[in-house]
Amino acid sequence: MTKKFSVTIAGGGSTFTPGIILMLMENTNRFPVGEIKLYDNNMERQQILGEACKIMMQERHPAIKFSYTTDPKEAFSDIDFVMAHIRVGLYEMREKDEKIPLKYGVVGQETCGPGGIAYGMRSIGGVLEILDYMEKYSPNAWMLNYSNPAAIVAEATRRLRPTSKIINICDMPVAIEGIFADILGYKSRKDFIVRYYGLNHFGWWTSITDKAGNDLLPKLKEHVNQFGYASNTEDFQHKAPSWIETFKKAKDIYALDPTTLPNTYLKYYYYPDYVVEHSDIHHTRANEVIEGREKEVFGMAKKIIAANTAKDASFHTGAHATFIVDLACAIAFNTKERMLLIVENNGIIENFSKDAMVEVPCLVGNNGPEPLSIGTIPTFQKGLMEQQVAVEKLTVDAWIEGSYQKLWQALTLSKTVPSASVAKQILDDLIVANKDFWPELQ
Ligand code: NAD
Ligand code: G6P
Ligand code: MN
Repeated sequence: MTKKFSVTIAGGGSTFTPGIILMLMENTNRFPVGEIKLYDNNMERQQILGEACKIMMQERHPAIKFSYTTDPKEAFSDIDFVMAHIRVGLYEMREKDEKIPLKYGVVGQETCGPGGIAYGMRSIGGVLEILDYMEKYSPNAWMLNYSNPAAIVAEATRRLRPTSKIINICDMPVAIEGIFADILGYKSRKDFIVRYYGLNHFGWWTSITDKAGNDLLPKLKEHVNQFGYASNTEDFQHKAPSWIETFKKAKDIYALDPTTLPNTYLKYYYYPDYVVEHSDIHHTRANEVIEGREKEVFGMAKKIIAANTAKDASFHTGAHATFIVDLACAIAFNTKERMLLIVENNGIIENFSKDAMVEVPCLVGNNGPEPLSIGTIPTFQKGLMEQQVAVEKLTVDAWIEGSYQKLWQALTLSKTVPSASVAKQILDDLIVANKDFWPELQ
């Protein structure tokens, strides 16, 4: 009999949970699942999504064992994979991450600049907690981790849990590759072979070919030069006005280095003044998500519970859910699929720190990711990456040591922050806002 895998979704009350469950169900022919458990530390959120998914699973996949819990032992015992996407502090704290920097005229973003640093200081403890539960109750399991800010979380787990089976991942490159497929008229991003390097939310494509090796960059560049990444993509998450704006802005990001194609997150580092000018301190992306995705997902769940059927129910799936299921599949069946993952550099980028966490193509099998060599990178990218990786490392230092000084240095070094004095003002506000989440800083 083929093995059936047991998967725990940590952050089971996340807006992305139903989409991942649906994707797992769509793929049982290549990744057989025997059991799905949801785990969250917030019973209210867990119960709503848990009950709704239970009804859906009973109707559509009665043979698959399904449960939800806030008890770690129950959640993490006898499992093969943890798919994690927790948000320590919920959207309430995301809103503060975005709005506090804006008060000082600085980019307010959940993973970039001071907001990302603040979120990192909250996430490290939460992610380590999940990883430790997994290792205690299912020592052979793998943790596939979406929890943001992935760059800071990855540096923290590299340093504090160096031998753990955790892979930190991001869906932005695959979402953008979906747009590339749209632009070029291909069915799927899986028709491409790409080369890409950088840090998380901070990288560049250097090559995109089809399976026969034909260079697709020239045609893509022509489009990007005119329209950025604007396309007719159907991805629901990225349909929101702020995302559409971000995709258009790729045109100006691309202009800095027309030999590569950029990750959209570089806009916060190249054009912080533009971003601040186009932000509304009273209504940031957190508000957009609360009024949009959260309302939609929880509204749908409540409807399922009230009707006691998921007959008419639909949840969105997409590149985000596909990517994590592909990764589990590659590990489970040693497929050696080529995927962009966040791994320790160790010479992959020759002229960059060995101990930096970088995002690069890897072949994935049952021993985890095997990164492909990148060689040397140009001065522009190297300079930007060195500054940003130092911000990420200083943030982790600050969390480990409880150091105010290191965190002030991290904020000051961020390309999004104009001076040490502005950094200090933002930091002092963030400390007050995060008093229930951060370690005490001396
Ligand atoms: P959400 O707030 O809807 O869900 C997060 C859930 O995590 C909440 O239900 C919360 O109660 C739970 N949680 C918080 N701390 C926990 C802990 N210590 N243990 C267990 N559960 C905990 O958020 P969302 O918008 O659905 O996003 C979820 C996470 O996924 C975020 O970190 C987000 O940034 C991340 N994400 C990452 C990527 C990526 O590219 N890496 C893509 C999409 C989402
Ligand atoms: C992309 C990024 C994620 C990030 C998400 C935010 O998918 O790769 O790291 O969490 O966008 O999306 P949101 O819709 O919550 O603003
Ligand atoms: Mn990401």
